[in-house]
Amino acid sequence: MIKQGYTENKPVYIEDNVWIGRRVLIMPGVCIGTGSIVAAGAVVTKNVEPYSIVGGNPAKIIKYRK
Ligand SMILES: CC(C)(COP(=O)(O)OP(=O)(O)OC[C@H]1O[C@@H](n2cnc3c(N)ncnc32)[C@H](O)[C@@H]1OP(=O)(O)O)[C@@H](O)C(=O)NCCC(=O)NCCS
Repeated sequence: MIKQGYTENKPVYIEDNVWIGRRVLIMPGVCIGTGSIVAAGAVVTKNVEPYSIVGGNPAKIIKYRK
């Protein structure tokens, strides 16, 4: 394990008016778009579109809020 080196620390970006449910994991470098909802228990590995509702592992779009 020591030979594999370090991974870069990437920040997570959470835009305005986002609801993050209970027990959510958000991977480094991911942006949670404005007005979106992350369902309870989600593992977010990719950027979340604005005004979408995502859930599951890996998180996928459940529906849109528009
Ligand atoms: C995301 C959420 C808001 C969706 O609520 P909703 O709009 O009423 O959605 P529904 O219950 O009608 O479910 C819609 C679909 O999403 C799925 N779904 C709902 N919650 C899910 C979750 N946490 N993970 C994965 N899928 C989920 C449902 O199974 C359903 O799938 P289907 O269309 O294939 O049947 C809600 O499930 C949730 O997770 N709220 C967060 C609760 C929480 O953490 N509260 C405490 C902290 S504030």
